[in-house]
Amino acid sequence: MEKLVITGGTRLKGEVVISGAKNAAVAILPATLLLNGIYTISNLPNISDVKITCDILQDFGAKITWNSRNEIVIDTREIDGREAPIDKTSKFRASYYMIGAMLGRCGQIEVGLPGGCNLGARPIDQHIKGFEALGAKVDIGQGKISAKAKKLTGTSIYMDVVSVGATINVMIASVLAEGTTTIDNAAKEPHIVDVANFLNTMGADIRGAGTDVIKINGVKELKHEGCYSIVPDQIEAGTFMAAAIATKGDILIKNCIPEHLDCITAKIVEIGGHVEDLGDSIRVWNNKRPNKANIKTLPYPGFPTDMQPQMGVVLSIADGTSIINESIWESRFQYTNELNNMGAHITAQGKTAIVEGVKELLGAPVYASDLRAGAALLIAGIIAKGTTELYNINHIDRGYEQIEEKFRKLGANILRVNE
Ligand code: EPU
Repeated sequence: MEKLVITGGTRLKGEVVISGAKNAAVAILPATLLLNGIYTISNLPNISDVKITCDILQDFGAKITWNSRNEIVIDTREIDGREAPIDKTSKFRASYYMIGAMLGRCGQIEVGLPGGCNLGARPIDQHIKGFEALGAKVDIGQGKISAKAKKLTGTSIYMDVVSVGATINVMIASVLAEGTTTIDNAAKEPHIVDVANFLNTMGADIRGAGTDVIKINGVKELKHEGCYSIVPDQIEAGTFMAAAIATKGDILIKNCIPEHLDCITAKIVEIGGHVEDLGDSIRVWNNKRPNKANIKTLPYPGFPTDMQPQMGVVLSIADGTSIINESIWESRFQYTNELNNMGAHITAQGKTAIVEGVKELLGAPVYASDLRAGAALLIAGIIAKGTTELYNINHIDRGYEQIEEKFRKLGANILRVNE
């Protein structure tokens, strides 16, 4: 087990290059199972969730070659597996995309129930509703989900909740279905559009991704060769934006799409920070203590839940009292206990946290409860006076490529050591 030891008090300055989006990558990789050919996927984030996804694809019979740190060639011509091992799928959430992809490819799949960050209840009823509407029979038992379909037929599916995972999963399953599938009340996150773009590049006919109605006209087959570059990670960019503001720093964030960051930019400007749009990069800087602000997390284009903990750290040192309302996940305030151990004054109950800004945080041993909590505590360690020891960093490695190297290049004092 490793931990990060952070000596705080640095104003972050310099440039950082954003990696490909985790939540697009973990969907695009399983979606390659629909294809029968050889594909190159680039701008792939080199993170542990991607490595486990590749591992499972290999268990199914895919052949994967790493061309470089961020590019793979995947050969899906000899897929023969129908089962994904429970110990692997239970390690991460996005294993549920194997279901949509394998239903589309061969009408049969069994996977362990998906795991992932502990953010409270994480039902998958909308995924199942979608698969069943397309004609699949889905069973859950003994920690596994199995799905079977003789044939998938396009239909209209209304999502009862706006769900990133269910939207993508049903979209993937519908690509090779007969006829047209309509997803109403679809999620609109940038990674939904990226997965649709990937599938369309491969010959699918998907329209409307990025709006709340997506139409998928089923096609008979997909191309046998192609390449695709994954969109930059909106949340990684947002994490460095929060770090710039929290540390009164000045960071040039390269390889990002500024429009995807509008909801974060608006909040940063509201608390007194500065954001300059430079096309495919942004400069974010701040000279003074941030102002208080209220945040309510919402599906895109609202403020992303995956940025709530990082902005929670910024608000913990703001001038005044802020209120955060978390409307997506029921347990996404676990990081506030750790922040309070560093001197923050946050009262979290249910879906609301009241954050009374303090002048400074003090270094302490803290534990990451999940991926974004880990990123938030890392930022907290960088602004705190003294030394912070950050444990459970395997959560951070799931979703951030070379996180301490990137922060170190900006001036942070971080060491990765064995516990
Ligand atoms: N929901 C249902 N039924 C479903 C699916 C979702 O009730 O069948 C509810 C959830 O309980 C939640 C809401 O709908 O309250 C939204 O869940 P969603 O399905 O959108 O989440 P997800 O697909 O499981 C993805 C990201 C999360 C991110 C959420 C929300 C991946 C692999 N994960 O999860 O990312 O928080 O969307 O944007 O794409 C992270 O990266 O740190 C992370 C947790």
